[in-house]
Amino acid sequence: MKKSHTAMTTLKHYLQFTDLTADEYTYLFERAALIKKKFKAYEKHHPLVDRTLAMIFEKASTRTRVSFEAGMYQLGGSVVHLTTGDSQLGRAEPIEDSAKVISRMTDLVMIRTYEQAKIERFAANSRVPVINGLTNEYHPCQILADIFTFIEHRGSIQGKTVAWVGDGNNMANTWLQAASLLGFKVHVSTPRGYEVDEKLAAGAGGISADSYQFFSNPLEACRGADLVTTDVWTSMGYEAENEERRVAFADWCVDAEMMAAAQPDALFMHCLPAHRGEEVEADVIDGPQSVVWDEAENRMHVQKALMEYLLLGRIA
Ligand code: CP
Ligand code: NVA
Repeated sequence: MKKSHTAMTTLKHYLQFTDLTADEYTYLFERAALIKKKFKAYEKHHPLVDRTLAMIFEKASTRTRVSFEAGMYQLGGSVVHLTTGDSQLGRAEPIEDSAKVISRMTDLVMIRTYEQAKIERFAANSRVPVINGLTNEYHPCQILADIFTFIEHRGSIQGKTVAWVGDGNNMANTWLQAASLLGFKVHVSTPRGYEVDEKLAAGAGGISADSYQFFSNPLEACRGADLVTTDVWTSMGYEAENEERRVAFADWCVDAEMMAAAQPDALFMHCLPAHRGEEVEADVIDGPQSVVWDEAENRMHVQKALMEYLLLGRIA
C-alpha cells in the first residue's frame, strides 16, 4: 500500500501545554474537527495501523483510559494497558529502564502519574513520544479538549475570559499556560492557601503576567467571563487533606449566582469527575450552560489528532 504521509523525523513529547506552539494548536483543532466529523460519518481513518500505544496509569481514570484506548483503536492501532499494581513499575524498576524497554516495543506512551519529574525522566529515556495523561502539576490533554469544545460552541478563544473557581491545581496551572500561549485571560479565584504556584504554572515555557488575574472573591472572578470552570476540591494524591479542604473551599462552589455574573452566553465546564453540591451545584452542571459531556467526548477526538500529529506530523 502506498504511504500517504511520512513519520515525524524529530521526537516530540506532550508533557506540558507549552510543548506545542500556537500554530501547532491551530492545526490540531482543525484536524480534530475533521477527525471527529469523519468518525461521526462512519468513515474509516486508519493512519496508525500496526502502531501501539502504551498507557501507564499510576492513578485512577475513566475518561483518559476510555478516550485514549477507543481513540487508538479507531486510528487503526492497538493499546497496552499497564498499572503500577500489575507491572514492574510498582516493584521499583527504575523509571529510566522502564522507559527504555517500553519505548522499544511501542510507538507512543501515555502516562498518568504523580510528579511531573517522573514523566520527564521517562521521556528523557524514551525513543517514542510521551503524552501527559495527568500529573500533579499539569493536565494538558484536558485543556486541549476544553479549548476545542469552547471553539466548537463559541468560536476562537482568543481575547476571551475564563474564570477558574477552586483549587490552584494541575488544571489551573494548565489553563494559565494555555491563556498565555493562545491569547486569552484567566480570572483565578482560590481559597487562601490553595493559590496557583505561578512558577509551577509557568513551567518550562513561561507565562505572561497579563494573561491572568487573581481574585479573592469567586463571584468577582466570574464577572463578565465567557467560560466558568472548576474542578474537584481534592485532587488524586491529596486525599489526606479532604476534610480541611471541605472547610476551606465551602465558598468556592460554582452556583447560579456566579453563572449570572458571567456573560449571558457563558459556558460551564468541569473536567469530571464532579461532586454536585461541593465544587458545583447540580443546577449549573446539569443546566443549559453546561457543556461537560461534549468536553468529555472531545477528549477522544483531540487526542486522536494529537497522537496522529506526534507520530506522523502535519497531514495536508
Ligand atoms: N477528566 C479526566 O481526566 O477524567 P479521568 O480521571 O476519568 O481520566
Ligand atoms: N485535578 C483532578 C483532575 C482529575 C481529572 C485530579 O488531579 O485528581
